[in-house]
Amino acid sequence: MQTVTIQNVWDIYRQDLIRVEKQILKNLSTHVPAIPMVVKHLLQGGGKRIRPLLLILSSRLGAYNEDEAVILAGIVESIHSASLLHDDVVDGADMRRGKPSAHSIWGNQITILVGDYLYSNALKIGVALKSQRIMDVLSEATTRMTEGELFQLSKIGDPDITEAEYFRIIEAKTGVLISASCRLGAITGRLDRGKEDALGAFGMKLGTAFQMADDILDYMADENKLGKTLGKDLKEGKITIPLIHLLNVSSRQEAGLTKGIIRKEETSAEDLDCILELLRRYKAIDYSIDRARRLIDDAKAELMAFADSDIRDAMLAVADYVLNRER
Ligand code: IPE
Ligand code: IPE
Ligand code: MG
Ligand code: MG
Repeated sequence: MQTVTIQNVWDIYRQDLIRVEKQILKNLSTHVPAIPMVVKHLLQGGGKRIRPLLLILSSRLGAYNEDEAVILAGIVESIHSASLLHDDVVDGADMRRGKPSAHSIWGNQITILVGDYLYSNALKIGVALKSQRIMDVLSEATTRMTEGELFQLSKIGDPDITEAEYFRIIEAKTGVLISASCRLGAITGRLDRGKEDALGAFGMKLGTAFQMADDILDYMADENKLGKTLGKDLKEGKITIPLIHLLNVSSRQEAGLTKGIIRKEETSAEDLDCILELLRRYKAIDYSIDRARRLIDDAKAELMAFADSDIRDAMLAVADYVLNRER
């Protein structure tokens, strides 16, 4: 029986995550002050550190090599940070982790270049580990993430986007890095290929559900807890699972109304209210949560490749947290 809660997990692995944070800052030994300035702003804003946590847990399922696991965890969190800096520029987002986003303080130029630095520096640190396997996973992940972002861009404002296309986008932009985190944990933990693949599949399913939860929270979270502006996906023309479902099941007239709002250059508070009302009427949030829950169940099933242990319980608790989180 799994009795571990996510709070237990954060408590037990806090020291590991503090080490990861120190590792990230240590990697910024540069004479260019803009780099630590922007990165510290982002790190101090908080962040759930779900990728480093999953990497460390995965590696603890095998032969834990603390030094290598912490370096790898620093790499994946740096790649994630880079993607957030770029993402907020692309999305024109004002808030990140409860604070003004980097580009709204320092502008796009610095923000994009610090993001580039974080990406390339993360890969440079990876190269120093002299493992072709590790570099294969890291370079594949960063490449696919960018493909996902670009594919998403091509679907902005397109109400004909299908569920299958949505899943292709979110697997690439979010699932891939979370999957890579678990896989890298398996590699540094010297687990066999079967177990590595099971962890990779766990991460992909969990990561995809994680993005679905993000897309659901965008419509219904408590903004203060979320640390980001609510309703920004609609504003950005980003059509995510609740809206796709609504378009699929609502009446022709309501679908027309929804498309009209999607096409608008600027959406108002009334437009968002109208969409929220339709989402309620068609239980689109319930539908989305249910789809995410099924993915989480599938993710958990992948962990049955491992014997019962405290670490496995901790990973199951992280999987549940993905659905229950408020930020
Ligand atoms: C935000 O990621 C972007 C998505 C992939 C949904 P997180 O929700 O992991 O962001 P932080 O690191 O906790 O702020
Ligand atoms: C996740 O998509 C972006 C990345 C994978 C970097 P979103 O655009 O939905 O993320 P938020 O909501 O801005 O955090
Ligand atoms: Mg965004
Ligand atoms: Mg979002």
